[in-house]
Amino acid sequence: MTNLIEIKNLYKIFGNNENEALKLVKKGMGKDELLEKTNTVLGLNNINLKIPKGKIQVVMGLSGSGKSTLIRHLNRLIEPTFGKIMIDKKNVLSLTQKELLSFRQKNMSMVFQKFALFPHKTIIENIGYGLVIQSMSKDLWIEKASKWLKRVGLEGYEDYYPNQLSGGMQQRVGLARALATDAEILLMDEAFSALDPLIRADMQNILLDLQNELHKTIVFITHDLDEALKIGDRIAILRDGLIVQDSDPQEIILKPADKYVSDFIKDINRARVIKAKSIMTKSTSKIKDAVSINHNMVLEDVLQEITKNPGAIISVTNDSKKIIGKISIEELLNGIKRPVSKTNNYT
Ligand SMILES: Nc1ncnc2c1ncn2[C@@H]1O[C@H](COP(=O)(O)OP(=O)(O)OP(=O)(O)O)[C@@H](O)[C@H]1O
Ligand SMILES: [Mg+2]
Repeated sequence: MTNLIEIKNLYKIFGNNENEALKLVKKGMGKDELLEKTNTVLGLNNINLKIPKGKIQVVMGLSGSGKSTLIRHLNRLIEPTFGKIMIDKKNVLSLTQKELLSFRQKNMSMVFQKFALFPHKTIIENIGYGLVIQSMSKDLWIEKASKWLKRVGLEGYEDYYPNQLSGGMQQRVGLARALATDAEILLMDEAFSALDPLIRADMQNILLDLQNELHKTIVFITHDLDEALKIGDRIAILRDGLIVQDSDPQEIILKPADKYVSDFIKDINRARVIKAKSIMTKSTSKIKDAVSINHNMVLEDVLQEITKNPGAIISVTNDSKKIIGKISIEELLNGIKRPVSKTNNYT
């Protein structure tokens, strides 16, 4: 898999004397002590992250853990104290002001939590904004903007103004505006967090549908674990500016790196999230009278299948129906059961 974005040894310290502070951080000083001793804030602490092309990378963490700081480095809304950011093998930090401008217009789009629409522009003008500033002809930008307006289900609202639309509709405008420029990378900072749960679920589905077609590289920030699990191909968890885990969502649930991560996931419904492939024993042998299930089936559904055939062994197949594993009842129950919490502390 190709990585489109590579972040290497990235540090961000807010405040005066950041280079002095950086030396202390590199020697191991943490966020609290740094603030106390130098009156600077450790925003990011040695971030290394590879973001695969065409996938959705979720970034999670408590408030203040550095999520927005991280995403804003990608389009250089924030300059790092130290480190490297490579996008498509180009060092973003070495772009000239002019190159940076064109890079922001053409390669990346951002969707904000508070929508950030222009109140005095109509919906179609909002969606087409990124094209107008590229000096595209009016006919062409209207054509492109109309396509995205329809795609997010807002046909008929072309000439309305943002305040005439509901929150969910406004965020669809935000999404259409971000997609209209054909940028390969989408940066979404808590883009759905201000929406009601039902509308939020709608937006998640719209995004996933679009992603199936478009295969953008998306960096998606959220506080919400359910959202992260639904959307993320990978999930990185930030704490005090450090990445404590970056892995496949299944691995976050099954092998949380520390207590901070296990605290994050402790209340989820494991049966609805963990997939058969994550708990199966690998095996290619055919078992007589086995119940056959797809490797991506979640355990809740596996349980349903097995209650139809009590006592049967579960045989796991891949998408081409080849047998790749088996699951015993004991393994199934163990997968669903909440693990005994570890005693190691993270403070
Ligand atoms: N411009 C700034 N000046 C000083 N400190 C800052 C600045 N921006 C962010 N910080 C600090 O950096 C840390 C990370 O902030 P950031 O906004 O990235 O957190 P976040 O994870 O996005 O939080 P939230 O979930 O609340 O949005 C915080 O301690 C914050 O106080
Ligand atoms: Mg934030």
